[in-house]
Amino acid sequence: MKMIKVNLGERSYPIIIGANLLGKVGKLIKTIPNVNSALVITNNRIKALYGSKLANSLHSAGIRTNFISVADSERSKSIDTWVKVMHKITRFDKGRGIAVIAFGGGVVGDLSGFVAACYKRGVPLVQVATTLLAQVDSAIGGKTAVDLPFGKNLVGAFYQPKMVISDIKLVMSLPLAEVKNGIAEIIKYAVILDKNLFLYLEKNLNKLLKLNKDCLAYVVCRCSRLKAKVVSIDEKETSGYRSILNFGHTIGHALETSASYTRKMAHGRAIALGMLCACDIARELDLLSEKDAGRIEDLIKAANLPTKITKISASKVLNATLHDKKIIAGKVRFILPVSIGHVMVCSNIDRRWIKKSIDKRIKQ
Ligand SMILES: NC(=O)c1ccc[n+]([C@@H]2O[C@H](COP(=O)([O-])OP(=O)(O)OC[C@H]3O[C@@H](n4cnc5c(N)ncnc54)[C@H](O)[C@@H]3O)[C@@H](O)[C@H]2O)c1
Ligand SMILES: [Zn+2]
Repeated sequence: MKMIKVNLGERSYPIIIGANLLGKVGKLIKTIPNVNSALVITNNRIKALYGSKLANSLHSAGIRTNFISVADSERSKSIDTWVKVMHKITRFDKGRGIAVIAFGGGVVGDLSGFVAACYKRGVPLVQVATTLLAQVDSAIGGKTAVDLPFGKNLVGAFYQPKMVISDIKLVMSLPLAEVKNGIAEIIKYAVILDKNLFLYLEKNLNKLLKLNKDCLAYVVCRCSRLKAKVVSIDEKETSGYRSILNFGHTIGHALETSASYTRKMAHGRAIALGMLCACDIARELDLLSEKDAGRIEDLIKAANLPTKITKISASKVLNATLHDKKIIAGKVRFILPVSIGHVMVCSNIDRRWIKKSIDKRIKQ
């Protein structure tokens, strides 16, 4: 078992990583002061696979527990679902130390975080991350949100969990497509911050795709450490440093919105394309070498992530990009790679370059 700390003063918390942690969740949560009951937010797929084990662990620790399942879709990150869950927690809460447990991937995690942030102006939140994407990224850092039809994550709050628990054994049951979605975020970390991780991925991608246990443990620990560091430095994106984590996300989010949040444009796939567009813009501006751009594209291809946008029009993607919330004073902000392991924040990218990068990636 490894423990990585997110350093945020009185809001600091551990990320606990290991195999077979699910049976220990109850005991771990009992270490949080005044928690006696828990609403577990999940979906039916995860509940069927692991719900009874989690329930047993919580009951053994003396935690009164109830489950709510939301639909297994990005569309559960909605105001309507949030209202449904708020009603459920109100009915279940007996006023004696309730916590919210997010038991799932990024969808459940973002929704549950926003529930925990709002219910009674904030109750303890624990992220029990079940997807690779959630373990390397979304469960950490306190960004919680639901989507609106016009854009991703438009309603939300910064709200840190008390604890993140990443049991790498849970990831073993992920469909391959979801493993790839997680790998997209791992490639993001490598490009923005960690050349050695990039080299590791170039060598070990096939092992990771086959869910080799050592590889998984390595990437989950490494990415958790990177995210913990970034969040500790700039928790609420005030200095701008945290925005490097948005590499690939400006056009990525626009693609998700344009595809009406359907699974064919899942978050990982969308940001793989978004990262490629950012590389194309960086190439146009002569910020990134052809060689490094080629290596990034090769890694994305090797992970079998998309390199072309299909079934969505370029104009739809462009419009959604120009309406992203990352627009500051009418300028679209992009995180552009300058070499593998280094990026820069560019807040005045001309729409011509954005259009050109999208056009290049549309499958003819
Ligand atoms: N808050 C953040 O900082 C942050 C960062 C990155 C992404 N996100 C958000 O995360 C979301 C994407 O998360 P995701 O990729 O985890 O998607 P997801 O939560 O939809 O999970 C993907 C699929 O895997 C299934 N699943 C989950 N755990 C499983 C398991 N152990 N075995 C088998 N199947 C399992 C789910 O039921 C779902 O069908 C997006 O909404 C994105 O915006 C948030
Ligand atoms: Zn992301």
